[in-house]
Amino acid sequence: MYYDYLLYITAYLLGSIPFALIVGKIGYGKDIREYGSGNLGGTNTFRTLGVKAGLLVSIADLLKGTLAAFLPVIFAINPEPSLLLGVIAVIGHVYPVFAKFQGGKAVATSGGVFLAYHPLLFITSLIAFFLFLYLTKYVSLSSMLTAIYSLIFSIFIKDLWLIVAVLLLGIFVFYRHRANIKRIMNKTEPKIKWL
Ligand code: G3P
Repeated sequence: MYYDYLLYITAYLLGSIPFALIVGKIGYGKDIREYGSGNLGGTNTFRTLGVKAGLLVSIADLLKGTLAAFLPVIFAINPEPSLLLGVIAVIGHVYPVFAKFQGGKAVATSGGVFLAYHPLLFITSLIAFFLFLYLTKYVSLSSMLTAIYSLIFSIFIKDLWLIVAVLLLGIFVFYRHRANIKRIMNKTEPKIKWL
């Protein structure tokens, strides 16, 4: 029980690491919250600082979700990765204690949790994301459509805890994309040009 709380706190702190802020400030002397969408995430880092920084932040944001889910395995408490710890890491990513509780939009870190818990869900979600991106050219819309795809996948494989987790993560994803939804409707959301 005592260990459980330590794991919850560790997962939250891991999720709270604001890689977009760290890479922007240390690597480029820029606070990416003052640029583009203002979001502390991979997409805004791509937009503001370029491919190298964007990839670095996206991968780091993803891996913190994976690492959090694997904490019980790493500490030999449980042989299975934990969905709950993954979800807690996503909460940390969205509301980071290290960045005034204003974090990212839950996408990459949720992907990292899928990678730990159900690699097939991760791989097919990644493919679905790029397919949506190819079709719509909107990163934000593709993120939301991928959240719906993940829910359908979890319902299809009948894993109740995964359904609950994916539903929760999906709510986060949609909630955090409120401004994007408005911009898509106003036709002011930027489209990607490289796909
Ligand atoms: O993962 C976040 C992405 O879906 C949207 O980011 O910066 O365009 O609001 P942004």
